[in-house]
Order: sequence, then C-alpha cells, then structure tokens
Amino acid sequence: MGCGDLATVILVGTQWGDEGKGKVTDFLAEKADIVVRFQGGNNAGHTVVVGDTEFKLHLIPSGILHPGKLCIIGNGVVIDPAVLQKELQSLIDRGIPLSKLLIDHRAHLIMPYHRLLDEAEEKNRGANQLGTTKRGIGPAYADKYSREGIRVVDMLDDQEFAEKLKKNTNNKNRLLDKYYQTTVDEYDQTQLEYNGYVALLRKHAADCGEVINEAIKSGKNILFEGAQGALLDIDFGTYPYVTSSHPTAAGACLGTGVGPTNIDKVIGVIKAYTTRVGEGPFPTELNDQMGDLIRRQGHEFGTTTGRPRRCGWFDVVIARYSTRINGLSHLAVTKLDVLSGLAEIKICIAYKLNDQIINNFPASLKVLAQCEPVYETMPGWQEDITEIKNIADLPLNARRYLDRLTELTEVPVALIGVGQKRSQTIVVEELF
Ligand code: IMP
Repeated sequence: MGCGDLATVILVGTQWGDEGKGKVTDFLAEKADIVVRFQGGNNAGHTVVVGDTEFKLHLIPSGILHPGKLCIIGNGVVIDPAVLQKELQSLIDRGIPLSKLLIDHRAHLIMPYHRLLDEAEEKNRGANQLGTTKRGIGPAYADKYSREGIRVVDMLDDQEFAEKLKKNTNNKNRLLDKYYQTTVDEYDQTQLEYNGYVALLRKHAADCGEVINEAIKSGKNILFEGAQGALLDIDFGTYPYVTSSHPTAAGACLGTGVGPTNIDKVIGVIKAYTTRVGEGPFPTELNDQMGDLIRRQGHEFGTTTGRPRRCGWFDVVIARYSTRINGLSHLAVTKLDVLSGLAEIKICIAYKLNDQIINNFPASLKVLAQCEPVYETMPGWQEDITEIKNIADLPLNARRYLDRLTELTEVPVALIGVGQKRSQTIVVEELF
C-alpha cells in the first residue's frame, strides 16, 4: 500500500529494545487515527521530542502527544495504576492537550506485592540476576498465567476487587514473609491506595477489542505500538534474560483482540548498531573505547532506570531472526547519525563457533555466549547528516551502509532516523 491508503500497522522493536520506537511511533502517529499499546507495562521507556521539549513515556501510548488521536492500552498490557495516574498528571501539568485514552477491561493490574516480589526474586537470584526493571512486570504476568491476576474489570467491581485483593495479599505476604523474609504491605493499606484509582480506571475503561475492530471495519488507520524488542520476547528472546510478554508482532493480535488477517504491515524498528540493558550474552558487544563512544554519541542510558546500555555493532544474525519471527515488511532504521564521524563501521554477518559458521540465532545461551562475530567492514562517513531530508542527499557511504543492511536482511528500509526530533526522519516509503 502506498501513501494515502488505509492500513493497520504493527511497529515492533527488532533487537533488545531501546531501538527508538517512541520517536518512530510518534512520527507515524501523525497519520494514524488510533495508537494502541499491546504488551509490557511501565518497564518500557519511550523518549519523544516535540519541538524542543523531551517527554519520557512509560505506560501511555506515544500517540498521546498528538491531540485528536485515540490512544488505547490493550488487554495484553499490565497496568500499574499509580504510574498511570502520575504519567497522566505530569502531561497535564506540562500543558499537553491530551488525546482520548481508553484502557481495556481485560488488562491485568500490577499490585504493590508484584513490585515487592520482583525485587525479592531478583535479590534471591544473586549472581544470576536477570536485571529486571523491578516494576513488578514479571510477577504480574506470572499471576495472569497462573490465573490469579486482578484485571481492570475486576477492580471496577467493589466486592470482586476486595475478595481477590484479600486472597492475593494474604498469599503473597506469606511468600514474601516466609520465603523472602521481606517486609510486606498489608491488605487494608493496598485497598485504600487502590480505591483511589478506581475513578480514574472507570473513566477510561472500555472493551477496546471491540473499538479497534469497529475502527478497522470503518477503514481507520491503526498503529500498534510495541514496547521492548524481539530478543526480549518470552518465547523467542534470550531466555531467561527476557521480559514476560510478547514484544513480537503476534503479540499485537493477542494483546488487542485483532485477528492476524486484519494486519497490513509490520515495521521493525532497528538501530543502526546494537544495544542491550540487563544481563545476558551479546555477541557484538564493544567493551572498549568504541563502545564508550557509541554510548556517548547515542545517549545510550535507560529511560526507565538510567542504566548505561551495553553497545555493539549491527548484528545481521539478529536482524534476520527478528525478520523471520515478526514477518517484517519494512525496516525503520534509527540513530544513523550516531555513526557519523567513524572511519570504519562493522557489520556482523554471521557467528563463528569453533570452526563452524552459524547463521541462525541459537536458542542456547551457552552457545550464544561462545559465538564470535564474523565482521564485514565498511567505510564510514564524516558529514553531519542530522538535517538531511532525502535519502539521495545522504553521504555515499551512509547510503552504501543502508543498502547493505537491506541486502543482508532482505527487508526494504521505509524510514531513517537522523536525529531525535520528529522532523529528523527521512521517509523512503510512506507507510500510511
Ligand atoms: P522486566 O521487563 O522488568 O521483567 O525486565 C526483564 C528484562 O527486560 C531486563 O533485562 C530488562 O532490562 C529488559 N527490559 C524491560 N523493558 C525494557 C525496555 O523497554 N528496553 C530495554 N530493555 C528492557
């Protein structure tokens, strides 16, 4: 589909998260009627720059910064109501005219005991910590799948909420107290706090699956905004160093109630290099001055936790794997400007394990940790590319680098990010 056509577009991270999805979502949101988040929670951190102002969003879809759009938090998201309230208030305080926000009845809630459990479990893992964001994400999804969770719709029913909360608080407190020897929140305290969020949830709660499917029928443009990235997917990521949801494209269907036949395009946001936060193997990691330089130039520090991100060269093994598991139709390459000024740029085209060449991303972390990157080296470019609007005006070596990424991944590049602002985006192919 070309410019002006109507479409449903899923946007996902293709690496370990932090690919710059916030900016791409914000850019595409301009043409979308509805922006939907479908998984994760406030472990995400989307930085969006509007004019000269920087916004950091964790839970609310990035589309909220476009007045007039409908923003939806889908059933696949886990919601910390305290964070929701704070995030909405901080936007209001900054004078942002908020677009309409709906929250699905079926979305699960993060409770105070989830946050406590996340911390306690991490501490208990000792040297094998996962490096979670400690926002209670994993324990909230664990409750969902063990059928103990509390959903938005449950909280809107006073009696249902009181019963579930009492049962869960008692169970979790036993676990926290006896097994993790940690202090616990009492039931009454939690109920008092959460009663304060009921009005907010009631105001925004809806059957969002129905709203989205009706919108699709009437030909609206829908943008599904992924958080995290493919390698953090609970099934396909570097398990156990993953998050507890599905940041891959299929997650958009499950996390909103939209069938796969209703999806037109899947855009993979891919950084011109690779980064990772938290623990786990990372074949192209640069533990040297080059890694420091990329971290500095790319401002690679976590939006949610402030942690320095581990940095490395672009990894085609990951890009191809991600293309396959997401069914990518287009790439949005971000942060190309960060590589400006380098004499040479490396691309990892395969892994080497002993004497064997490996092209497929391994399931075993032990194997992945032993993989050596096989590099191809390309000449860099020295020019400042941050004001370039047209792909033809990029330095020849930057175009060669992009052409090589397309050739190796077999996915066309639709958008190129050359700076933090909305306007610093080169459109190669219109997506809506
Ligand atoms: P959790 O999602 O807080 O359970 O953390 C599990 C893993 O996912 C950790 O390695 C986190 O650093 C990572 N993670 C979670 N959210 C993000 C994100 O938005 N960007 C990058 N990494 C993330």
